[in-house]
Amino acid sequence: MPPKPLTVLGVETSCDETAAAVVRGLPPGPGEILSNVLFSQVEEHRPYGGVVPEIAARAHVEMLDGIVARALGAAGLALADVDAVAATAGPGLIGGVMVGLVTAKALALAAGKPLIGVNHLEAHALSARLALGTAFPFLLLLVSGGHCQLMAAEGVGRYRLYGATIDDAVGEAFDKTAKLLGLPYPGGPAIEALARDGASRRFEFPRPMKGREGADFSFSGLKTSVRLMAKEQAPLNATDRADLAAGFQAAVVDVLMDRTSSAMRRFRTEFGNQNRELKLVAAGGVAANYAIRSGLQAIAQEEGFSLAVPPPALCTDNGAMVAWAGLERLQSGLIDPLDTPPLARWPLQDLDKTGPNALFRY
Ligand code: KG4
Ligand code: ZN
Repeated sequence: MPPKPLTVLGVETSCDETAAAVVRGLPPGPGEILSNVLFSQVEEHRPYGGVVPEIAARAHVEMLDGIVARALGAAGLALADVDAVAATAGPGLIGGVMVGLVTAKALALAAGKPLIGVNHLEAHALSARLALGTAFPFLLLLVSGGHCQLMAAEGVGRYRLYGATIDDAVGEAFDKTAKLLGLPYPGGPAIEALARDGASRRFEFPRPMKGREGADFSFSGLKTSVRLMAKEQAPLNATDRADLAAGFQAAVVDVLMDRTSSAMRRFRTEFGNQNRELKLVAAGGVAANYAIRSGLQAIAQEEGFSLAVPPPALCTDNGAMVAWAGLERLQSGLIDPLDTPPLARWPLQDLDKTGPNALFRY
């Protein structure tokens, strides 16, 4: 008999989105998203130009019960109908993570369902399987507000780190650059929109780490040179701002292409064989950017990889990716105890060290 599809409720509260979703399916996917409800706190944080942890945690407390009820309602299910309850257990802003995890624990306990504490980065990593059914292994470029890394994804819980940022995450660079150009938070979409009208070659910004061996990144120097250039050009008119945004984005695309091609070469030597397709997956909020997607498409073609990127709404934080990661772990028998702790820091490459999450977390 073929295995029965699983149905999982997922909760996401690690940053500034309060989200819950119900997903059904079986690995490797694609999964069926029965509901995907999201409340973005962007308006609450905008006056501060970034996420304020205390405001975020309080907003999660206020919103989460209603969001979970709506996610179940939109899926046409009761809590008794799901196979497990999953929530992001880290990494993230600890107050928010606590709110989501404790809510999931209460729901799991009340309904007698297994709990799954999901690593937020693994949820991003597996989002291409949810959306497109991408099989392991694949090269993963994870680009978000808090992370920028290249890894080989070998299986659920099995990630080999190839390189990471030595300073700012790429999303952070977008957000900080946006702020200094007077753009609203979050900066990524604002820079992307402004860059469309800009001349990317007017300002030549540095390409940190380009051409270096390995797959590490650095973005703080790039951000600084945009700041210095903006100062030199001040007062900025609309054209200056668009040209600065376009120059910055072009440098980011160039660096991501260079670092990813370097990782592709390593991935080929470690995982390539004649009858296996080489795959690059891009995930995380920054992978919603079309200039970055097309740069990655170009190097994928050059290096003989296929590119899989989830639709933008599954790249930025959402509940469906957490439900799906929970579903994949449930299918592998990886459930967690009710005393699973929330974690502010939790690197993806440590996930497989001791198998089931909870054992190694203490
Ligand atoms: O994955 P995500 O929603 O949250 C984290 O886990 O960090 O990523 C948020 C980041 C923010 O830095 C945001 O500015 C960036 O993703 N982002 C973008 C775009 N959309 C979101 N960056 C560049 N271009 C975009 N279109
Ligand atoms: Zn994220």
